[in-house]
Amino acid sequence: ALTLALCASTVFAGALEEIQKRGKLRVGMEPGYMPFELVNQKGEIIGFDVDMAKRMAAAMEVELELVSTAWDGIIPALLTDKFDIIMSGMTLTQQRNMSINFAEPYIVIGQTLLVAKQLEGTITSYKDLNDAKYKIGSKLGTTGEQAAKRMIPNATYISYETEQEGVLELVNGKIDAFVYDLPYNAIAIGQRGDDKMYHVDTPFTYEPLAWAVRKGDHDFLNWLNHFLFQVKNDGTYDKIYHKWFVD
Ligand code: ARG
Repeated sequence: ALTLALCASTVFAGALEEIQKRGKLRVGMEPGYMPFELVNQKGEIIGFDVDMAKRMAAAMEVELELVSTAWDGIIPALLTDKFDIIMSGMTLTQQRNMSINFAEPYIVIGQTLLVAKQLEGTITSYKDLNDAKYKIGSKLGTTGEQAAKRMIPNATYISYETEQEGVLELVNGKIDAFVYDLPYNAIAIGQRGDDKMYHVDTPFTYEPLAWAVRKGDHDFLNWLNHFLFQVKNDGTYDKIYHKWFVD
């Protein structure tokens, strides 16, 4: 029993200790999800999560490294130590929480619909789309995909690799509706204009977004939750929020 306990503590010091030793915080994210992480014209990753990650690294007094990772592999990448934390607009779901730990949620969002313009008046809720004659899309491995399949089961569901592709398919008339997180949809329609689509912007799911770390790392979780409490109350969070969200 003693040997086992020793092994466990040598193998797993906790990410916070590793970060300090390394002098660098490694954050896993998948850019393309506005306004949380996106790539600007200079090719830099920017967004709400990025600004928060910068504050986090500063508070730890370490450097920051953003590790761009495909969404469907982001949890395995965390588990195999490709980075220390996922800060990528990830919804805290009970299913994901079986394999990873989450800090307290930093924002709550929900699924909304971008719908083809010609259906205006016909589709006013996700329930109206629940018919085999409708084609709906979302992004692979997201809560949008889960919601589409679970709550609109009779529609034909099409999965896309990127958010951008899904919206483009809607604009091109290939699908009737795109199911995705409210902040993304709000920005997408703002950018593409409303001549091809409209936004049914009442969220029909409840989704807390939270930072994720490897299981059992209480030290790191404790640090993260107190960091969040601090920035939520000292004006830092509000400043970043107002920079990225139009309200
Ligand atoms: N909130 C949704 C989810 O957890 C979508 C997040 C997508 N994030 C990203 N960086 N691409 O499934």
